[in-house]
Amino acid sequence: MKATIAVLPGDGIGPEVIAEGLRCLRALAERHGHEFTLTELPFGGAAIDLTGNPLPDETLHACRTADAVLLGAIGGPKWSSPTAKVRPEQGLLALRSALGVYANLRPVKVHPALQGASTLKPEVLEGVDLIFVRELTGGIYFGEKRRDAHSATDVCTYSVREIERIVRTAARLAQRRRGKLVSIDKSNVLETSRLWREVTTRVLRSQFPDVSLEHMLVDSTAMHLIRRPRDFDVLVTENMFGDILTDEASMLAGSLGLLPSASLGEGTRGLYEPIHGSAPDIAGQGIANPCGTLLSVALLLRHSLALESEAAALERAVSEVLERGARTPDIAARGTPALSTREFADAVLSRL
Ligand code: IPM
Ligand code: MG
Repeated sequence: MKATIAVLPGDGIGPEVIAEGLRCLRALAERHGHEFTLTELPFGGAAIDLTGNPLPDETLHACRTADAVLLGAIGGPKWSSPTAKVRPEQGLLALRSALGVYANLRPVKVHPALQGASTLKPEVLEGVDLIFVRELTGGIYFGEKRRDAHSATDVCTYSVREIERIVRTAARLAQRRRGKLVSIDKSNVLETSRLWREVTTRVLRSQFPDVSLEHMLVDSTAMHLIRRPRDFDVLVTENMFGDILTDEASMLAGSLGLLPSASLGEGTRGLYEPIHGSAPDIAGQGIANPCGTLLSVALLLRHSLALESEAAALERAVSEVLERGARTPDIAARGTPALSTREFADAVLSRL
């Protein structure tokens, strides 16, 4: 097949992990006879340096017309002074919003070979396989912001329609999995959460009677997530709670660098990125974990290009390489040798 992919390496370790993602995409294209047009574009801090704008028009246009967008990471100390006028993060939010990718899927699966890489006890982690469905284009991230000399305000708004569509995405996913949906809110304090709970209950009752629904408060979810992670299947939540809980959940898998994500809207076009950061502390050293990016490439192949067997082949290759003991420093046992980003990807490519 022919496909156009807009590639946004971004900042920090972004370009390093994206380079490996591109190598895998090229290898798969060659093997399976696809023609992928991979167009690299400036984005985030790198684009601020070039143009003053974290999401230049040319980049946005390329993303809007591509079949899929692959993103590394954005941000870093260079652009994050509290008084900065433009920030890399504004570009990411604007891109998510412009592409209409309101559903951010973040699967968390504990690889058996990595049970020891987590700070949690192996017996707690065995068999963990859950997926977060994070609302991505609403809530406090996108509400009005105000600031004067004495105070600051961030407004959190959710409409019924925004809640309905993300809940439907999550419920459909639950139907294909274990039929268990947990909806996370803070309805004991927030009005948006009370609406969230009401709408979720209604959507599930009327359209998904086969899916069991449990409501949980976000603070208690943060606790249960590390106490009994195996009990969770699909979790749906608003933008900021999803941001926080998925960083926490990455520690079940063992490292932030392991988790991929897919951001989807109504069509098949999607935005694919590791769950972040740009890891400025290790940028440029070639030691970042490329797994989150490689697995994001797999999600891209599956969801935007409908290339299921290529996606599965890439996921299998990553899994086998971990199985055989390949480790980047973030997941290597103390005192054991670790591979560079490139070496790890070499191992994956050779299994592909
Ligand atoms: C993420 C990141 C972003 C977010 C930042 C970089 C704006 O933390 O994708 O989780 O908060 O959504
Ligand atoms: Mg985050």
